[in-house]
Amino acid sequence: MSAQILDGRALARQLNTALAARVPELPRPPGLAVILVGADPASQVYVRRKGQVAERLGFLHQQHDLPAETSREDLLARIHQVVADPNIDGLLVQLPLPAHLDASEIMDAVPVTHDVDGFTPPNTGLLSQGRANLVACTPLGIMRLLEHAAVPLSGREAVVIGRSNIVGRPMAMLLEQAGCTVTLCHSRTANVAAHCRRADVVVAAVGVAQMVRADWIKPGATVIDVGMNRGSDGRLVGDVAFDEVVGHAGAITPVPGGVGPMTIAMLMENTWRASCRAQGIS
Ligand code: GUN
Repeated sequence: MSAQILDGRALARQLNTALAARVPELPRPPGLAVILVGADPASQVYVRRKGQVAERLGFLHQQHDLPAETSREDLLARIHQVVADPNIDGLLVQLPLPAHLDASEIMDAVPVTHDVDGFTPPNTGLLSQGRANLVACTPLGIMRLLEHAAVPLSGREAVVIGRSNIVGRPMAMLLEQAGCTVTLCHSRTANVAAHCRRADVVVAAVGVAQMVRADWIKPGATVIDVGMNRGSDGRLVGDVAFDEVVGHAGAITPVPGGVGPMTIAMLMENTWRASCRAQGIS
């Protein structure tokens, strides 16, 4: 039996359309600024997509392209300048940053009000206490996709592979808060496959092409693939060996067209929320 395909592209389109219809309710459109430091080709693609969707929704959108050698002082000054603009509600600094910049220090400079990535310590702290404010877009999008597909979570076993601050850690918290018993696997985990075999839900966010194989998956389990890796032939492949896992899983996200569009849709929703608050609308 072949798995149900969790179509993130279709759901994201639906959510984006619904949000665009609400923009005229606000006194002014939501404003999103994105800062990109350097010319990492993958980051350029992601940032361009975010801008395209923001504009399609009728948001105000600014993109600040800074050279790779931008100093810490200049980047901090740009962040302060952007957030002082009364038309900008959300600020995203695209990661990864060039090695000479301390990503934690830069993220800490984003005011919690403008943190549409949900990466700042106050927002991650609130999430850890089950009092979520602005939540990281990729895990949030995955939760929406699971909810939309009515995947049962309460009392189920979930395995998250990868412990990044962007995906793995917040994902584990959200799944735990939805009632899952969560195992967070990482580079030191002795036997990732053995953990996966017990799981009703597997979220792979490691950045290793096709690492999750069919024999890691319990028949009928839900498999979420956050990976965006370039195969040797240049083709985009996930962290899951889709062609073999699709025959074992109950539901699976494709790459592309699964998690990626949901991340962007959640960025738009976070920007909307930040804008409503900035404009005094609850
Ligand atoms: N790089 C990869 N994913 C993300 C994301 O969700 N936000 C930011 N700021 N950078 C990223």
